[in-house]
Amino acid sequence: MGREDPNLGDVVVGRDAIKHKVAELGRRLTEDYGGRPVLLVGILKGAWMFLADLVREIEAPVEIDFMAVSSYGSTTRTSGVVRIIKDLEQDITGREIVLVEDILDSGLTLSYLRKTLLARGPASLEICTLLAREEQPDLEEMVRYTGFRIPAGWVVGYGLDVDEQYRNLPDIVWYTGPK
Ligand code: IMP
Ligand code: MG
Repeated sequence: MGREDPNLGDVVVGRDAIKHKVAELGRRLTEDYGGRPVLLVGILKGAWMFLADLVREIEAPVEIDFMAVSSYGSTTRTSGVVRIIKDLEQDITGREIVLVEDILDSGLTLSYLRKTLLARGPASLEICTLLAREEQPDLEEMVRYTGFRIPAGWVVGYGLDVDEQYRNLPDIVWYTGPK
């Protein structure tokens, strides 16, 4: 694995751009929550690295929790139903919640999670995603914090994988190999 890997293409978002963007998102969250305690909910596994960097850029009392989800096989694209593999450990009633995701592709995962968590009565619920597809008309109303818009095509690195590989790459790069 490395630059010579024939399955990896060009860098989509490099480590320096990621670092700057994460700092910017952290500043925005710090300002927007004005010191109020916020619970960041990372969606496993892809968002773990982003969340780890993001919390260090927030100057406010933060707690973290995680959820893990998986799609219901091939019906996901049409039904938008995802299965919760690991649920939150905390009661989120009355809490200020920020869902932290690696990439918003079709948006089905986040819209399902948003609906599910809103039913638990948080004080607020916002979404922060590092990446989002360029073609995503519903994005503006659903997502308050977006890092980068990228075109269609599979990307890996900085937590994102293909078949559990490449999560450790420090840059986000195109994956050009077999899936
Ligand atoms: P959505 O429900 O279609 O928005 O799917 C979002 C999820 O699909 C993300 O949380 C990722 O786990 C996965 N995903 C979508 N596109 C990519 C990609 O290019 N690389 C790695 N994972 C991706
Ligand atoms: Mg994911």
